[in-house]
Amino acid sequence: MRSVALFGVLSTFIWLPDAIAVKSHDFKTCSQSGFCRRGRALAARAEETTSWNSPYSIDPSSLIFSPDEALVSAAVKSSLYPDIKFSLELRIHEDGVVRVLMDEIDGLKQRYNEAADWALVSDPRLSKTINWTTGKKDLRAVYGDKKDIELVVQYDPLRVTLLRNKKEQIVLNGRGLLHMEHFRTETAKETSEEVASEEGGEGQEVLQVENVRAWFEGDTEDAYWSESFSSWTDSKPKGPESLSLDITFPNHGHVYGIPQHATNLSLPSTTGESPSYSDPFRLYNADVFEYLASSPMSLYGSIPVMHAHSADSTVGLFNAVGSETWIDISYPSEKSTQTHWISESGIMDISLLPGPTPEDVFAQYARLTGTTALPPHWSLGYHQCRWNYVSSEDVRTVQKRFDEEDMPVDVFWLDIEYAQDHKYFIWEPKTFPDPVEMTNDVAANARKMVVIVDPHLKRTSDYPVYQEASDFGLLVKPNSGEGEYEGWCWSGSSSWIDHFNPASWDWWISKFKTTKLDSGFSWIQSTEDVHIWNDMNEPSIFNGPEITMQKDTIHYGGWEHRDIHNINGMLFHNNTAAAVRERGDIPKRPFVLTRSFFAGSQRISAMWTGDNLGTWEHMAVGIKMVLANNIAGMAFAGSDVGGFFGNPEPEMLIRWYQVGIFSPFFRAHAHIDTKRREPFLLDEPYKSIVRDLLRLRYTMLPIWYTAFRENSVTGLPIVRPHYVVFPKDSTGFDIDDQFFIGSSGILVKPVTEKEQTEVTVYLPEDQVYYDYFTQQIYRGTNKGKHITVPAELHQVPVFIRGGSILPTRERPRRSSPLMKYDPFTLRVALSKSGTARGELYLDDGITYSHQQGELVWREFAAEQPSRKTTRITNRDLASSKPDTAVDGVDLVKYDPKNAFAKDIAEVRVEKVVVLGLSSKPGSVKVDGKGTELRWEYIPGAAASEKKDGAAASVLIIKDPKVLVTEEWAIVIS
Ligand SMILES: *[C@@H]1O[C@H](CO)[C@@H](O)[C@H](O)[C@H]1NC(C)=O
Ligand SMILES: *[C@@H]1O[C@H](CO)[C@@H](O)[C@H](O)[C@H]1NC(C)=O
Ligand SMILES: *[C@@H]1O[C@H](CO)[C@@H](O)[C@H](O)[C@H]1NC(C)=O
Repeated sequence: MRSVALFGVLSTFIWLPDAIAVKSHDFKTCSQSGFCRRGRALAARAEETTSWNSPYSIDPSSLIFSPDEALVSAAVKSSLYPDIKFSLELRIHEDGVVRVLMDEIDGLKQRYNEAADWALVSDPRLSKTINWTTGKKDLRAVYGDKKDIELVVQYDPLRVTLLRNKKEQIVLNGRGLLHMEHFRTETAKETSEEVASEEGGEGQEVLQVENVRAWFEGDTEDAYWSESFSSWTDSKPKGPESLSLDITFPNHGHVYGIPQHATNLSLPSTTGESPSYSDPFRLYNADVFEYLASSPMSLYGSIPVMHAHSADSTVGLFNAVGSETWIDISYPSEKSTQTHWISESGIMDISLLPGPTPEDVFAQYARLTGTTALPPHWSLGYHQCRWNYVSSEDVRTVQKRFDEEDMPVDVFWLDIEYAQDHKYFIWEPKTFPDPVEMTNDVAANARKMVVIVDPHLKRTSDYPVYQEASDFGLLVKPNSGEGEYEGWCWSGSSSWIDHFNPASWDWWISKFKTTKLDSGFSWIQSTEDVHIWNDMNEPSIFNGPEITMQKDTIHYGGWEHRDIHNINGMLFHNNTAAAVRERGDIPKRPFVLTRSFFAGSQRISAMWTGDNLGTWEHMAVGIKMVLANNIAGMAFAGSDVGGFFGNPEPEMLIRWYQVGIFSPFFRAHAHIDTKRREPFLLDEPYKSIVRDLLRLRYTMLPIWYTAFRENSVTGLPIVRPHYVVFPKDSTGFDIDDQFFIGSSGILVKPVTEKEQTEVTVYLPEDQVYYDYFTQQIYRGTNKGKHITVPAELHQVPVFIRGGSILPTRERPRRSSPLMKYDPFTLRVALSKSGTARGELYLDDGITYSHQQGELVWREFAAEQPSRKTTRITNRDLASSKPDTAVDGVDLVKYDPKNAFAKDIAEVRVEKVVVLGLSSKPGSVKVDGKGTELRWEYIPGAAASEKKDGAAASVLIIKDPKVLVTEEWAIVIS
């Protein structure tokens, strides 16, 4: 969070509550960034020249194949610089992913080549079935289970094309914009110019080469050796080293991903008409004050992964680059997409994800960078935050008010003001004299605290955390490579730990120990009920260029900040998560919220969309941003309910809670200058509306947790946009204001506009959808159909897709751990053909015992063995899918009688609600038992009927006395 930004020591920005003003001048446009300017100029020259040819080519005689041929390398040269050597390497993974690496070899310097080391979860397994065919013009491999994928590597000019069924899916350098700027010395050009003017015939040739170089690279050394922005100068000791590459999807008309931007899910063109999209999408982790609600500007995190989609196929690409990157997107036709990626430094390391379905792309990306680790279960509950709860008494009072109003909440948060002089870990003794007792009071209601720990360390010898980091030499260094980099942040003059230095890891972990260490600081004033919020880790530096660190500061290994900027925030939250996991006697799942993130962050932490504004536009774009993060693997995502800035009126606050309860991460937060807005402060009827919404979130926790399990194994998003669920329905490709939750069958369309009383909802298929609250049926069609449904302030449109079974827990509790032994309700929403299925996943929610098979994973199914009979069954899914993993770990040790299953053995299903039966049953019994169950039937429409708005028939089976962990069948006949 950031509001009152101190620029140096002198000037102070005061935040004006009514001014919505991104400080655009704080951040570079492409034309203010040397390498982006060069990259765009290259593209413009290519556009103007019909005979444009990429100067890069492969020397076929240099091809070297690994014994199993999954890996092939080649020498690449540029006709403009015949003496400069480049290498290309292609690796084909077992799952068909193609990784393309290119680097300059034997250059004057080394390009940064470690981005993938941080992003990848493990070394990908290479294919064993590749046979290359070496031709005169190209190199080809046909592979895949159906031999439908073909990879073509053209020699001259260098071009890589991935095809499926002979149709081009992804083309690299098809437009000839590839440019890997080689390392050079500052005087090189002058020398050749001298040669050109002094000598005769030979000079002419040099001149020609110069002209050709100018044609390709431009005729000025634009910002090669240093670059200024505002009052800052970037010294660029390595000179130009940018990488430009065009990536074309000739048969895909939509691209998604590359979070984080406040924009539509289907990414707008950056080369078209829209004046607000005149710059490329930028990936450069930045603390953007009052960011715009629709813009290609960079925000706090960067995930360079993109999906390209058409009704035919979905493909993806992952660009493992940690430096600043700009991406131009254009749509030459409705059915094709061109992109141009321009990065400041680093090798080329691009993985082509062949799909062909969204599920395949998610799995391919998950194999590369991992999936979300199952979070602690309580972290799916409601988080109450504010800058700031000002004292431990304040925290106790807020907790008391929630309890008095019977509003569930799991976590109370403390922002920076808990820390004395913003020295994180050190409680301000005047206001928080008893932090352990305060935490224990919160924990007494089975709740947690989350406390902020930012990366800036106050440079003062009375701050042991700074002093130790300084003594051990763990801090980022200034461009001289000596001493400690210094900048300004909340804590005034500050330094930053270099988490790229492995020596910092164990040390940082030790700071979170809740017991005394032999030497050094540890956090004895905390308990295992305190979890952590890592903010400002872009890093945000108030007096730095673009509010961040100078690019020429030096990290471990001698790399410049320029090389690793977008990865930096991930290492900080990774080490924090390790610290929280390892601080006690047994490892427990950490909860760490991070603002800055990179590819791979999903393995470790949750994210939120930063300092949003209390406006309707921000509420709406928050949904799109959470969807985009889910596409890019960063599934545990949410945006601040209420908006960080501003004072939302009750209507807006309620609509925002309706968005929040349907986000994977659900937190309310507010700026220090805002009025208090905890839900218990609302007047009626607003207060009761929010209470009901909070309870609805808690009711649905089993659905969320089950979706998290699936994501942790498959990488499938927790909130899913239409194109993911219905990849062939082109009407859905632009839809980003309604979405599905996991595989549960829940479809939500939050209201994000003022004074709405109804909304339209798109139904993408010929299936019945049930209103979650009223049980009214709506029937879609194969061509898709829009329906209009009421959406008064207390109503949020939620539908159950016919064919789903939802497990819920309907007893209101103060916090989620108190629901552990609560009974379940099953909502059986019959499909138009009378069937349904659903899943329920449970484990202890705290430890890693689920990785030892201590879990319960059930499948509920409804079938119609005959026209008059419906059977609802419960069976063990974990033992029927022995090859399935949970949280990345194979269930080899799974035993249906495991300790967790025994612990919840008594948990029963207290109610089964069947929607859409075609007639009143004659009898409802548990299979194998003679006694009739208690039930009630409310006549209404059958699932197969097409009467939009008609109430479905409802059968309520009361206390069937069946257990969650047991096999059973309920027979309705
Ligand atoms: C690849 O070629 C080798 C030798 O020609 C052959 O033995 C092998 O079966 C081929 N493999 C595949 C997957 O086609
Ligand atoms: C974003 O999507 C909306 C709705 O589809 C559309 O009206 C708008 O023009 C899009 N914005 C941009 C910048 O393309
Ligand atoms: C996370 O930290 C562990 C050590 O605790 C380290 O092995 C791993 O490489 C780190 N990963 C990232 C992405 O920082």
